[in-house]
Amino acid sequence: MPVAVGERVILRDLVARARSELEAAGVRDAHLDARLLVCAAADADHADLIARGDRTVPGGAESLALEFVARRVGGEPVSRILGRREFWSLQFEITPATLDPRADTETAVQAVLDLAVVSNWRERPLRICDLGTGSGCLLIALLRELATASGVGVDISGDALAVARRNAAAHDVAGRAEFVQADWTRGLTGPFDLVVANPPYIPSRNIAALDREVRDHDPGVALDGGPDGLNAYRVIVEGARRLLAEDGWLVLEVGAGQADTVRGLMTDAGFAADRRVPSVVRDLAGRERCVRAVSR
Ligand SMILES: C[S@@+](CC[C@H](N)C(=O)[O-])C[C@H]1O[C@@H](n2cnc3c(N)ncnc32)[C@H](O)[C@@H]1O
Repeated sequence: MPVAVGERVILRDLVARARSELEAAGVRDAHLDARLLVCAAADADHADLIARGDRTVPGGAESLALEFVARRVGGEPVSRILGRREFWSLQFEITPATLDPRADTETAVQAVLDLAVVSNWRERPLRICDLGTGSGCLLIALLRELATASGVGVDISGDALAVARRNAAAHDVAGRAEFVQADWTRGLTGPFDLVVANPPYIPSRNIAALDREVRDHDPGVALDGGPDGLNAYRVIVEGARRLLAEDGWLVLEVGAGQADTVRGLMTDAGFAADRRVPSVVRDLAGRERCVRAVSR
């Protein structure tokens, strides 16, 4: 179905063309990606496509859609092309400076919300520190859920922090969020009731073998956890000890096979388990995804 740029083209046909180009390039989920890319270019949503799929697409939107498709064929993830990702049912701006937030990281949000119940966090002011905040997704999702909370998002990347600030404003939590450039906990002062982090945890030697959508588009500083993947955990666990109030919680996302070791680092630093909640929290696929412990 040849559709040359400049011809009169209708929305539904453009989606079909995008789909066939993506399928021909072997893109998984070609139909979904085609719909997302064409709708974004044409400023349409799924409902428009169903109800008004026969509407004409302006020439500018058509060429933009074809540019998006070419980028997807070249291996760029849809979220990177569109510059946004949904996390915890909120839309987050992302840029090359930020990790593309993963659905698995929502496990950390839920792990904190469990603690909010046992620690009565909804009934008192709560101070949160999110280390390695990236797009700000963890801190912002938590501030949206916990109305009495305020927090600090920390990152080594000034460009990521600029994105996090815009995301906080977009989600109406800017008044309760501060963003600070720092090397993990260096120079920070507490006390906090919660330190949460999704640190870089891929062992350096495994980076080259990652899917190219990850390796080529997520920033290296967001992925590389050093020789054994645990460099950031060693620093964060020690630093969190200093920053946390008594009965404050440390909640860390971990990579595959890291939960026991990270739990050991926490225990060695003086953190304790709490019998009211499991120390290790699994994601929806059943993998160990978060470790949490309390400062006593
Ligand atoms: C795995 S990403 C997590 C981003 C975000 N929290 C999320 O879950 O999508 C790790 C983040 O840690 C930041 N980071 C890496 N090294 C750091 C350091 N030494 N100090 C502070 N942040 C650092 C990176 O810039 C990146 O934003």
